Amino acid sequence: MVNKEWQLQDYLKEKVQIVDSALDRYLPEGTTLPAFLHESMRYSVFAGGKRIRPVLMLAACEAVGGEIENILPAACAIEMIHTYSLIHDDLPAMDDDDLRRGNPTNHKVYGEATAILAGDGLLTEAFILLSNSSHFGDVSPEASLEVIHLLAKSSGSRGMVGGQVVDMDAEGKEIDLPTLEYIHTHKTGALILAAIEVGALLGGASDKQRQALCQYGEAAGLAFQVADDILDIVAEQSQLGKDIGRDQERGKATYPALLGLSGARQRASELRNMALSSLNIFDDSARPLREIAGFIIDRSC
Ligand code: IPE
Ligand code: IPE
Ligand code: MG
Ligand code: MG
Ligand code: MG
Repeated sequence: MVNKEWQLQDYLKEKVQIVDSALDRYLPEGTTLPAFLHESMRYSVFAGGKRIRPVLMLAACEAVGGEIENILPAACAIEMIHTYSLIHDDLPAMDDDDLRRGNPTNHKVYGEATAILAGDGLLTEAFILLSNSSHFGDVSPEASLEVIHLLAKSSGSRGMVGGQVVDMDAEGKEIDLPTLEYIHTHKTGALILAAIEVGALLGGASDKQRQALCQYGEAAGLAFQVADDILDIVAEQSQLGKDIGRDQERGKATYPALLGLSGARQRASELRNMALSSLNIFDDSARPLREIAGFIIDRSC
């Protein structure tokens, strides 16, 4: 139960601490051979980051009355997959960025070859964690297999990787709104939706609850990337932890580029409302998810 004193910032802080300490337990030590590679994997994971995907997974699990201990491996796995996607996204062959999570990008510190391999290592580590039956706890092997399938599918060529390739292909081109929506729902939306769906599944959601949470996840996932596009224009670099103005420099397909800043803001707010209305069947147990829907579009980083 969530009480009146409840504050989103406190909730996020508490959950981030839980996720961070689990990540520290699950990731190979920086001294494990090959130490340089493990150090670079840890460098990007612990450079900062909002941990919004694991937090959404925990919040979806709690919304249906589940125990978060059962989902920590999946919550950490999704953050490893996300961090891998950021390391690769920043490479010179992709967005060619120098700053990430307030620090030099992985390839700036460790070199391109190690950055590619650190990404590969994190992606694989996620599935080592997910498939390790000693971490299953109360989760059945069938449910664990479904989680692995969901996370693999949302990360691969029909999910995040598929969105990334169309994002790269669209650079410098004029694209239509359906193509832009495809890019955003895949490169970013897919993993956010998977975070919510895995939280629902492992939390023991009914079919109706799971469907409602997936609707929330779809809207929140797209809203997250619309907000990311807006932040690239309006945020303070020191708060965002990334160089700003990069999308325009690279001719990226973004919502502000297609709809203007106010059109993008309007779309983000419509998506937040859609996310909120999909939670109508829930009581106060979904308060964190409701507040996160607002945070997603109002955030400054
Ligand atoms: C940045 O994701 C890349 C996108 C998919 C928009 P986040 O904004 O979640 O980045 P971190 O994890 O907080 O650094
Ligand atoms: C990145 O989108 C999406 C993934 C990393 C999968 P962006 O390229 O817009 O993310 P940022 O702005 O570099 O964080
Ligand atoms: Mg990119
Ligand atoms: Mg980028
Ligand atoms: Mg961006």
